[in-house]
Amino acid sequence: MKHMQYSRISLAVISAFALAAAPTVVAAASEGDWIVRGSLTNVSPNESTGSVSGPLAGALVGSDVEVSSETGLGFTVVYFVRDNVSIELLGSLPFKHDLSISGGALDGADLGSIKHLPPTLSVQYHFDTGSAFRPYVGAGINYTLFFDEDVAGDAKGAGVTDLDLDNSWGLAAQIGVDYELGNGWLINAGIRYIDIDTTAQVKTATGSTNVDVDIDPWVTNIGIGYRF
Ligand code: NI
Repeated sequence: MKHMQYSRISLAVISAFALAAAPTVVAAASEGDWIVRGSLTNVSPNESTGSVSGPLAGALVGSDVEVSSETGLGFTVVYFVRDNVSIELLGSLPFKHDLSISGGALDGADLGSIKHLPPTLSVQYHFDTGSAFRPYVGAGINYTLFFDEDVAGDAKGAGVTDLDLDNSWGLAAQIGVDYELGNGWLINAGIRYIDIDTTAQVKTATGSTNVDVDIDPWVTNIGIGYRF
């Protein structure tokens, strides 16, 4: 590419960024508005393992169940019931997490994998900063649905035939920000904490071993949205 062309393209790119960053006057959201957003969403478990009971309890003494961090696609639908107050529904494609054992006799063994959907319904308060920058806080209720549990080779070797995680109800809290680009478009980033407590039933020929696992993940997202 010739130098002249390159300069012209650079200038066009710089102008586009300058326009996007210019302090345009954007009307704040108002009652009756909707926002739909799509985001890259990371679920980072902050897990802890509680009581263990059943045939494998001996082998699992001193062990923790580890749940891997995963990134997937999330989406939110927001409806403003007041100028500053909205209801938000969080949805996503299924997240798949690997489960493994740390500590104890089975240290390092792969237990298997699970998929989950974590729909969360929240009430949010949006702060009007008089600029394109619109922070918000929210609190709500989460229902986590676990499915497609899969037993890994290591666990099969230890006699595990099936794995089942109880669905969970819990509270969720969040903070986030929308940055209005104009014409309805916005950039969004947020973080939420979800209380997800489950019981993993580790099944063997001699019965089910129940392991209480608090997954309690931090869920962070960055994406784009549209307000109308
Ligand atoms: Ni918890």
